[in-house]
Amino acid sequence: MDRYKPLIDDWNAFKEQADNHPLQGIRRNPLKSKDDFEEKLGQKFDYEKSSWNENVHRVSTETPGKSMLHWRGEYYVQEESAALPVTIMDPQPGEKVLDMCAAPGGKATQMAARMNNEGLVVANDESAQRMKSLHANVYRTGSKIVSASNYDGRNIPEDEKFDRILVDAPCSGEGDRYYRNFEAADKGESVGLSRLQQDLMKKAEKLVKEGGVIVYSTCTITPTENEKVVSKVIEETDLELEKIETDAEHVRGVSSFEDEEFGAKMSKTVRVYPHHLNSGVIYVAKFKK
Ligand SMILES: C[S@@+](CC[C@H](N)C(=O)[O-])C[C@H]1O[C@@H](n2cnc3c(N)ncnc32)[C@H](O)[C@@H]1O
Repeated sequence: MDRYKPLIDDWNAFKEQADNHPLQGIRRNPLKSKDDFEEKLGQKFDYEKSSWNENVHRVSTETPGKSMLHWRGEYYVQEESAALPVTIMDPQPGEKVLDMCAAPGGKATQMAARMNNEGLVVANDESAQRMKSLHANVYRTGSKIVSASNYDGRNIPEDEKFDRILVDAPCSGEGDRYYRNFEAADKGESVGLSRLQQDLMKKAEKLVKEGGVIVYSTCTITPTENEKVVSKVIEETDLELEKIETDAEHVRGVSSFEDEEFGAKMSKTVRVYPHHLNSGVIYVAKFKK
């Protein structure tokens, strides 16, 4: 991870947070919970509310999935940082949206809740195995506007156009405690993923309506899978990069790293590190067609 020191705003805080287990995050599901949600949550766990998203709570348990409130779909176990891409995407009731890499459904169910179950969410994922969890989560959370599809995102048919698309891309997961525990990825792995990520974004451009929004996100630190992808998308498509404004603590995307230049526009994108929200890494960029 030391190669990323120049990218991190507070290296000591980053290391300390990465080495310690953060509080678990849960996202309230308004489709299944009522006004007494916090009272019921408080009877089960100590919790604190996120400062930037009223539905996100930090809970003091290692096993938030083991509770009746969870089984009944009143909340979804989701790290605080993972709730940011859909907040930025801001899907509206009645819209038709695509979640291109959707399993196990954390963000697709968040979209359905934000849309008050009005409209359509197409939740696509290449992995048939991971789609099983998505189906279970969609059912548990009562996300009845979610339809599932099982394409390689690069092959999704182009006969339907969407108001908004999320590309929560397959990535090396350097900022995911459970997947890689903050170990840096091999450079070759990141270069291969970067090509796939660029291809998924080029496909998203073809699937979004004129004036529509595309949000790109990863949970990794390397600029190869973040700013490099975004700079290629700007260069090779008609998509416009939009500046993200958010109350969630963050730093801005970087204009260069090692011997690569990505350009000043990268300051429109955001990086969230573990010490910002007491959770995993997230990188987010927003485009308009
Ligand atoms: C970061 S995870 C998605 C997490 C999900 N958005 C959520 O919030 O629960 C990335 C997903 O991309 C899927 N994936 C990998 N390659 C893909 C491809 N070519 N097309 C579509 N999905 C792909 C993986 O199976 C994985 O489920």
